[in-house]
Amino acid sequence: MQIYIFDSYEDLSTAAAAATADTLNLKPDSVLGLATGSTPLGLYRELIRMHREEGLDFSRVTTFNLDEYVGLPKTHPQSYHFFMNRNFFRHINILPQNTYVPAGTTNNHKAFCDWYENRIKESGGIDIQILGIGTDGHIAFNEPTSSLGSRTRIKTLSKQTRDDNSRFFEKPGDVPVYAITMGVGTILEARRIFLIATGAAKAVAVAGAIEGPVSSMNTGSALQLHQDVVVFLDNEAAGKLKLIDYYHWIQENEPDAPEVLRKQP
Ligand code: PGA
Repeated sequence: MQIYIFDSYEDLSTAAAAATADTLNLKPDSVLGLATGSTPLGLYRELIRMHREEGLDFSRVTTFNLDEYVGLPKTHPQSYHFFMNRNFFRHINILPQNTYVPAGTTNNHKAFCDWYENRIKESGGIDIQILGIGTDGHIAFNEPTSSLGSRTRIKTLSKQTRDDNSRFFEKPGDVPVYAITMGVGTILEARRIFLIATGAAKAVAVAGAIEGPVSSMNTGSALQLHQDVVVFLDNEAAGKLKLIDYYHWIQENEPDAPEVLRKQP
């Protein structure tokens, strides 16, 4: 894993966006795996800015989102369809037919999940998968004890996740109990993975993912099995890492580190 620690959320978002844009410029028909939640908002804002001011082109890009709540229609303000349109898609020149988000209202989950997996394969596979991490270590909605070989499927959300996400709903009882989520195995097939985390509430989960044993108790730890993971953290999210001095040293001295990933002077 390459671990980069930044002084602010803005800096880590800018670095993650610059690294994403590098890939889009090299491969204009890239396939991006996208995440929802508070964490990637800064990255999306920066990509939108680059589109408006620097002409970053999404016209040939395809995207696959990680997950969607079961039971929420696309028009529901807390659905991930709605989130992606509001916070990203409608601000860039991506073609709506090239944006895939799992269907929360399908009545044949198994068939839908198989179709979603196939669409990813037929699109050539994911070039960069953007990931946040839950306070329980989940990536996408792969809650603790999810199989590390899992594929896209229905998952029951943990109480911790429902509590964490209740801030977006009118009352805690409104948080859906189930989600459709890419599996850990699906995520590990992406060519490159960007894990982004911010804030002290994520420090334990981040440390478990990067330094803990590989365990389904923290599905983020499965990323240790992938050969090209870049982790973007702020100081707070990095606060429980045991080898933090090592990561800082590499970030400041590693001659091969791409310029955008270097710590700002
Ligand atoms: P958050 O969610 O970005 O809203 O903290 C992350 C996650 O649950 O994966």
